Amino acid sequence: MAIPVIDFSKLNGDERSKTVAQIANCCEDWGFFQLINHGIPEDLLERVKKVASECYKFEREPGFKNSKPVNLLKELVEKKSDESLVESVDWEDVFLLSDENHDEWPSKTPSFKETMKEYRAELKKLAIKVMEVMDENLGLPKGYIKKAFNGGKEEEENSAFFGTKVSHYPPCPHPDKVNGLRAHTDAGGVILLFQDDVVNGLQILKDGVWINVQPVQNAIVINTGDQIEVLSNGKYKSVWHRVLALPEGNRRSIASFYNPSFKATIEPAKELVQTEKKLQVDQNLAKYPKFLFGDYMSVYAEQKFLPKEPRFQAVKAV
Ligand code: OGA
Ligand code: NI
Repeated sequence: MAIPVIDFSKLNGDERSKTVAQIANCCEDWGFFQLINHGIPEDLLERVKKVASECYKFEREPGFKNSKPVNLLKELVEKKSDESLVESVDWEDVFLLSDENHDEWPSKTPSFKETMKEYRAELKKLAIKVMEVMDENLGLPKGYIKKAFNGGKEEEENSAFFGTKVSHYPPCPHPDKVNGLRAHTDAGGVILLFQDDVVNGLQILKDGVWINVQPVQNAIVINTGDQIEVLSNGKYKSVWHRVLALPEGNRRSIASFYNPSFKATIEPAKELVQTEKKLQVDQNLAKYPKFLFGDYMSVYAEQKFLPKEPRFQAVKAV
């Protein structure tokens, strides 16, 4: 089984309605899909690959060699530990890029900062387009999701958080004893992943079976996080996924996410709750509480690798 691949350029032609419907199906049945012909220039993607791997080689690899996962795995294999699995860490090198932390972006790799700035601007535009298709499919006014993530007020646009996680999953000498990234659902809104062209590793849980997110050259993998699940009142479920540690290859993965502002109030869209209400008059059919995204993130920080349902119960309702 393979993750559906959608030609995003068809959104602008004769096949618009078919494409919109395909995306609806992906959001409802898969929670993950891949976009090709998404409008991000190929030459930019090539430059991103280049600076990301150079950055890893020059600025990150030396640190990874002496990192916690490497040391814990070594201890476990040398039997200084009773465990059979390293469960507290992931076999990955990762750092975050945001508009707020420009000073901390890697600065030694030529063109890294400029290229990633250009890439993030393009990805943010794509995130907004994807959210608009979701608005349409959910029967919400155009811009609904974006506005909700920006705290509900047009003038506060840009308070949503747009982050980019640059990850590498280096080859692992004992892939059966550690995860690349432990299974989880994503906390936020819409995630846009530029994964390796060749090296596998990312899997999603589909109908109880782990399946690979097959590498497709220069595609952008889209998935929806817990906040889209809440806003859609459960129509678009956030899906479990994980990354395997593998013996060969150094997998690159650059995940950008359009998340609500910490101050944004998130709740099931009234439009969706009310449509259902018409059918069963007496029930309050909001399946999720109303909460501040910042409060959700406090819960998530403690419970990322656990089932999501208790998170919705634990978050302080407003
Ligand atoms: C994540 C994630 C997948 C990957 O960062 O939440 O699932 O391929 N990443 O790095
Ligand atoms: Ni994830």
